[in-house]
Amino acid sequence: MKKHWDNPIDHPMPPDTGPSTRVPASVQIGSVTVAPATVLAPMAGVTDTVFRRFIRNASLFTSVTTPGAPGLDLETRVSAGRTALDSETRIRDAVEGSITNQASGCGLIMTEFTSADGLARMRESKRKRYLTFYDDEHPISAQLFGSNPATLAEAARIVQDTGFDMVDLNLGCPAKRVVSCNGGSGLLRDLPLIGEIFKSVRAAVTIPFTVKFRLGWNDNHIVCVPLAKLAEDCGLNGVALHARTREQGYAGQARWHHIAEVKDAVRIPVVGNGDVRTPEDACALVAKTGCDAVMIGRAAPANPWIFRQIAQFTATGRYDLPTDQDRYRMIRTYFEMLLTELTPDTSRAPAAEAAGKMKQFASWFTHGVRGGAALRKSIYESKSGTAILDAVDHFFSREVASRDVPDIPDSQSVPADDRLPSFVES
Ligand SMILES: Cc1cc2nc3c(=O)[nH]c(=O)nc-3n(C[C@H](O)[C@H](O)[C@H](O)COP(=O)(O)O)c2cc1C
Repeated sequence: MKKHWDNPIDHPMPPDTGPSTRVPASVQIGSVTVAPATVLAPMAGVTDTVFRRFIRNASLFTSVTTPGAPGLDLETRVSAGRTALDSETRIRDAVEGSITNQASGCGLIMTEFTSADGLARMRESKRKRYLTFYDDEHPISAQLFGSNPATLAEAARIVQDTGFDMVDLNLGCPAKRVVSCNGGSGLLRDLPLIGEIFKSVRAAVTIPFTVKFRLGWNDNHIVCVPLAKLAEDCGLNGVALHARTREQGYAGQARWHHIAEVKDAVRIPVVGNGDVRTPEDACALVAKTGCDAVMIGRAAPANPWIFRQIAQFTATGRYDLPTDQDRYRMIRTYFEMLLTELTPDTSRAPAAEAAGKMKQFASWFTHGVRGGAALRKSIYESKSGTAILDAVDHFFSREVASRDVPDIPDSQSVPADDRLPSFVES
């Protein structure tokens, strides 16, 4: 199943009528303050600890420049990229107008979904691998899927004991292998069982407990409002709605008016999700639904600057587009983080694992880079992580530096379709 955007709509910026048209500065989910009110969506195969920290530390690869203001020259950017992990302060000092609200722009990150059955059965050492996170990931929520109330409660306890700030229940996954065990969106057909799960997990943990769900199984079975009310009645601290049905998969548009209906129906925080690709989209989602926070999925690997852009947009009414040099630093930062993180306890050799991930992300990260096809080709042909880094350095230092044209923000320089990478369900 391809998870690309289907005829994406660019939402115009709503008229500025004050805070109701901007992404809120914060939202309180139980005891946890999420500031700013933006959430990195859970994405299996994408939001592992490396990617989450990459987004959290976006300042490592983000410069803020004002059109017309002097930026960093390529040489500085190239050398900054090579030492990205220890040069944050230098880079931040070097750029004009640094963002004053949270450096990352992302208020909450979430793990990929994890099987409650698997977690409850696993040896502790193996659990650690599934639930790895670092101090700089707080606040972080762990997402579980499953259908057995007792097992989910046990898994939620493990999540709490591991130090997560929140636990989330997945009622949205459309994958057949999950639905066939009644997990993910499969449960949307059984509200009474969902109620049992809510109560069982609620009784098991004291950390905030949230649920992420779709509208319903199909258009004849839209349950988002009763489900949100059930969550509130059972003591959950917030809900997140991906405004599509299970049958819809990723097709068509997310139907945001259902998020507005849920917002009207409950007093706990409502996180809106579906088809937010730009800061303008995020503001439009808040303006149209009144949601308390905005969750972003596919746009994050396609445009890892999006959270910073939203924060900048909220603070200043404008935001910067990445240049090719920014992309260089971004790609290098992520690849270096991968090489550093992957440890020998992974099933394959760490270097091969890192190289595989680099190739997976290369197609997303290089969309929009001028001459990106050549870069992708050299990355795919590289035999190791180090060779991939060399290919990236070579591309950016030779090809970009040799251009004598001014740097055009690449999202203006490529056809819209070329900006939309596809995600293959993992
Ligand atoms: C590759 C991929 C993996 C995903 N994995 C999960 C998951 O583990 N848990 C979940 O609740 N949703 C998952 N989703 C759905 C996203 O969290 C999000 O709800 C969906 O992509 C819509 O938001 P977007 O339009 O901002 O991408 C996944 C989506 C993608 C593209």
